[in-house]
Amino acid sequence: MSFGLDSRMLRSAAAIAVFAAIGMPVLAEEISVVSGATGSDLQDFPAIVKPWEDKTGNKVTVVPMPSSTSDQFGQYRLWLAAGATDIDLYQTDVIWAPQLADHFVDLTEAAKDLIPANFPSIIQSQTVNGKLVALPIFTDAPALYYRKDLLEKYGVEVPKTWDELTAAATKIQEGERAAGSGDFWGYVFQGNAYEGLTCNALEWVKSFGGGQIVEADGTISVNNPKAVKALETAAGWVGTISPEGLHAYQEEEARGVWQTGNAAFMRNWPYAYALGDGADSAVKGKFAVTTLPVGAEGDSSAATLGGWNIAVSKYSQHQEAAISLAVYLAGPEAQKMRAIMETHLPTIQALYDDPEIAEKSPIIPQWKSVFMNAVPRPSAPTLGKYNEVSSKFWSAVHETLSGNGSAADNLAGLEADLTDLKGDAW
Ligand code: GLC
Repeated sequence: MSFGLDSRMLRSAAAIAVFAAIGMPVLAEEISVVSGATGSDLQDFPAIVKPWEDKTGNKVTVVPMPSSTSDQFGQYRLWLAAGATDIDLYQTDVIWAPQLADHFVDLTEAAKDLIPANFPSIIQSQTVNGKLVALPIFTDAPALYYRKDLLEKYGVEVPKTWDELTAAATKIQEGERAAGSGDFWGYVFQGNAYEGLTCNALEWVKSFGGGQIVEADGTISVNNPKAVKALETAAGWVGTISPEGLHAYQEEEARGVWQTGNAAFMRNWPYAYALGDGADSAVKGKFAVTTLPVGAEGDSSAATLGGWNIAVSKYSQHQEAAISLAVYLAGPEAQKMRAIMETHLPTIQALYDDPEIAEKSPIIPQWKSVFMNAVPRPSAPTLGKYNEVSSKFWSAVHETLSGNGSAADNLAGLEADLTDLKGDAW
């Protein structure tokens, strides 16, 4: 199989060399990249790939996906299982490497100059049995966004614990509503039943000292009193400081409420910083970011480690060009553009010292230590079963937020389900 592809690649490389040598125009290749649609990612994509298109003469087309990473994963799995040849590159979430590794080409050799420039743990997260299955294009760790103007107006401090957040959100919401803003909410986050809820709930559980769902050694730890307390706290927000409709909120719905000036606090990833500071934003110049709250004094704040990568399909018929594009997208030029245009956190270490990035996107140097201490989801210990682990977890959390069963009962049920799923070993 791979012999067929390799020989085709060699033939096309040889043909290009001959055409180039005799001064004939080399046929441009059309490369397709599939990518999710959060924030301004899709609008910015043409500008980001333009330098590569200009240099190579190739053309890049984006195949847009829904913004939910869970929906993307389902679609990618179908295409890859079918060996689809019309997608050359896949933009992949940090958690997927172990599950999709077999469908992607090993980028170790192509990226050998780039690898040492990256944070080793990020490269590690995309390495499965020695194969580098995707190259990091940005990393992610969420922030607590807050309205500086409103905290000042109501005389409240930046909250350090979840209880302080609840109290501050309640006070500001009551005040703003009394002043006539009927749609104003205290706190918005991601409560839909999808991967984003796994991220939020992992942060609640971990910041209450309740572990990481499944620990690095594979132990199922999620059913414990601290995790119960964490979920009970979050369930108390829905319908009080957070809208009822929050059950259906993903990142973009939360940002919509926040950016129109209708929330005091928001949990979201750094991409919302650039957009919140945009010319059309009602909160421009009025907000700041801090780390997510803790359960109680002495606990540590927890930010779930996110991030996106670029992988080359084994079934691509333009592998050479696709690999070149992947290396470009993961390289310093493209990462710097994303950092400035989209406040996406670079994975290349030197960019944290780049003065232009620091000036235009101050959250980036500020967030270096947050992402370096971020909590990984248990995709490495649960291997090919991570998606099921996560969907069982977010379902139990979603039920709890919806008032279907207590946190204690739902976590006990989850533990039993995960134990079955694990069997003898992950
Ligand atoms: C962000 C993160 C990603 C995570 C997703 C959840 O896109 O970068 O890792 O899975 O949010 O919604």
